Amino acid sequence: MASPPSYQSYRAGARRRLPHMLFEYIDSGAFDERTLAANESDFAAIRLKQRVMRDMTQLDMTATLAGLPAAIPVALGPVGFAGMYARRGEVHAARAATAEGIPFCLSAVSVCDYTEVRQDGGQVPWFQLYMIRDRAYMRDLIDRVLAAGAQTLVFTVDMPLPGIRRRDEASGLYDTGPRGFMRQAWQGIRRPAWLCDVYLRGRPHGFGNFAAAIGPQSSLGDNWAWIRENFDCATNWDDLAWVRERWPGEILIKGILCPEDAVAAFHAGADGIVVSNHGGRQLDSVSSAIAALPAIVDAVGGRGTILMDGGVRSGLDVLKALALGADGCLLGRAWAYALAADGERGVISMIQALKAELRVAMTLTGCNVLREAGRALLA
Ligand SMILES: Cc1cc2nc3c(=O)[nH]c(=O)nc-3n(C[C@H](O)[C@H](O)[C@H](O)COP(=O)(O)O)c2cc1C
Repeated sequence: MASPPSYQSYRAGARRRLPHMLFEYIDSGAFDERTLAANESDFAAIRLKQRVMRDMTQLDMTATLAGLPAAIPVALGPVGFAGMYARRGEVHAARAATAEGIPFCLSAVSVCDYTEVRQDGGQVPWFQLYMIRDRAYMRDLIDRVLAAGAQTLVFTVDMPLPGIRRRDEASGLYDTGPRGFMRQAWQGIRRPAWLCDVYLRGRPHGFGNFAAAIGPQSSLGDNWAWIRENFDCATNWDDLAWVRERWPGEILIKGILCPEDAVAAFHAGADGIVVSNHGGRQLDSVSSAIAALPAIVDAVGGRGTILMDGGVRSGLDVLKALALGADGCLLGRAWAYALAADGERGVISMIQALKAELRVAMTLTGCNVLREAGRALLA
């Protein structure tokens, strides 16, 4: 049997297929990328405890994530602009998640809007929201995604302003002037398959959910300029009550990295949290998500759903996160690269690879029921 493809093979495939600035946009982190590196290296440093001579014929890998059943305790987390990595990319990622029985979370700043993904992509149970200044627009957006079928809101709170990403500056991503246009065009011409498939046939490319505000055909630079102007850095826990009044389903607060904020989130009425540093893309030198997890679990475990993301690259990482108390993990770059490298098929085989790795990890740690994973699985 062929080995399942690895995270690195999809990353290499995405680098080959995408224009330089788009690959850099996915791959990069904030400042000197110390937290980005720690997200992976802290996972790598955790040792599983091997156990043998147990009957491992029956494995239960299923989970309940934010009240909904999932084939494994993993969801495709919110990744902005995925419709630039593959033609109508969010639709294909949603289809892949539906086929493999895991939730898909649509980013607020997706290319395809919620209604398109819901119509063409199957189930889209989770929607991610950023707080923007224009509350009337937010109210309208919430109403629209609810009416179209969203059940769980992932409210991202670690982006009151975008982080400083030097590789994006260097690649020309934010440059909206003529020089930036020339650089971007040159990068696109060097990727003819992407140029024909995504750039020419995959329009419109703006932020679908905000098309009424920014315009449907805006460039990545225009979209970033709008984000910088409209993200609301005054947002505080009182605003959660405003969101709660409008959202009847579960609300997960994404971007929690310390026990104090985890306690505050549940106190303010959240149903769950996502322990996350935004994939090392916001404040550099903060703790990795996996290192932050145990103290947060100790502070709030049992009060609601605790998910984590940042550095989850394989089924082994999923088992480690569960052993440290998470109820599940979100994938970010892992699915973005698989989508860029091989479209819907890539995301499906990436999820299948994760399942295969998880099966091996459970079998050799003596864990029959994933829901019961605990710190005893660690060496
Ligand atoms: C290209 C890219 C775009 C992202 N866009 C969003 C977004 O729109 N909303 C959000 O809450 N998080 C976003 N994130 C953060 C991810 O949801 C997740 O927290 C992060 O990717 C986890 O780190 P990892 O990808 O290294 O595992 C994005 C991450 C990447 C890499």
